[in-house]
Amino acid sequence: MAADHPRMPPPGLVRAVELVRNGLSVAYRKLVPGQLAVMEMLAAGWLSQAIHAAAELGIADALADGPHSGAELAKTVGADEDALHRLLRLLIGHGIFTRRRDGRYALTPMASALRRDSDVSLRDAALFFGSSIHRDNWSHLVDAVRTGKPVGEALHGMSFFEHAQADRTLGTLFDNAMTSIGSLGLAPLLAAYDFARFDTLVDVGGGEGTLLAEILCRAPQSNGILFDLPEVAESAAGRLADLGLADRCRVERGSFFDTVPRGGDAYILKHILHDWPEDDAGRILATIRAAMKPDARLLIIELVIPHNSRPHPGKFIDLEMLVNTGGRERTADEYRKFLARFGFTLNRVVPTVSPDNILEAVPA
Ligand SMILES: C[S@@+](CC[C@H](N)C(=O)[O-])C[C@H]1O[C@@H](n2cnc3c(N)ncnc32)[C@H](O)[C@@H]1O
Repeated sequence: MAADHPRMPPPGLVRAVELVRNGLSVAYRKLVPGQLAVMEMLAAGWLSQAIHAAAELGIADALADGPHSGAELAKTVGADEDALHRLLRLLIGHGIFTRRRDGRYALTPMASALRRDSDVSLRDAALFFGSSIHRDNWSHLVDAVRTGKPVGEALHGMSFFEHAQADRTLGTLFDNAMTSIGSLGLAPLLAAYDFARFDTLVDVGGGEGTLLAEILCRAPQSNGILFDLPEVAESAAGRLADLGLADRCRVERGSFFDTVPRGGDAYILKHILHDWPEDDAGRILATIRAAMKPDARLLIIELVIPHNSRPHPGKFIDLEMLVNTGGRERTADEYRKFLARFGFTLNRVVPTVSPDNILEAVPA
């Protein structure tokens, strides 16, 4: 069965609160000396690394059965008690974990997100983003900015995806992180768009089938086709069968640079286009356009960069793509023009509570 998702607040309300938050940040940065504001930002990477350390140690899992003293916790996770206290003191200041009046440490909703068994767990994302390989690539951001190219070839003699295939420690870290981040955006997507109106949905590069499974569990009349590379499709087929969806969801293997299944009423491309350099992303669109019926929809799910100079998660992921894959994030206008080059008209951009948007396009 698909997981029960919490109710989503209206995207407009979330954006309004975000605006207030940004306004307060700007006011603070104008109030204090610029150097102080920059220094705070320089330290932001240390916070990310502290979250990684907490995930590696499994602190959230160790607190799942209730609060623990520092000594108990240090023993359970295999840490130095004083150093653990200092790590937690930093994280508590940011809402991750809490310390009760009796001195015992406990979970908060944010800390629970690091539990291995949490419904939507970010533990694997924390492990990947704080890993030495991810850090190593980011420490060469300056090279990517100088050359406009991802750093993998120069550092490891291969692209990021080749590296993930060759080094399964990296590959597994990455795959697990993608599944973890993928589950984070599911509830907002399902709340924002009526996927059930389509008879047949094709998820192109659908990975483990997490999104398709969630859609099909809520749309008993719909059928699905999951399309991915052979080794990924293999594990998706097992997962879909375990969920009792084998009769409504076919799995097809292949490369989206050569072919995609025909006959879909909607083609989903979730977090695919941003992975690839412009020419490759164009080839994916051209393959789908050739397979689509005239009345089918293309649903691109990506972080759309807003037309303003405020902070936005898409601006981080855009650099993540520059460093690692050579891909990029785009504004809605850039998507409109890009899609038009491959025979699509962008109908509308549907916002969600998360930074993901659904770009609905039709054959022109
Ligand atoms: C970033 S993951 C996104 C997975 C899924 N759409 C999601 O949002 O969770 C990229 C997916 O593209 C698949 N992929 C990469 N190259 C491919 C190709 N040439 N043809 C088909 N799928 C491919 C990968 O196996 C992986 O499942």
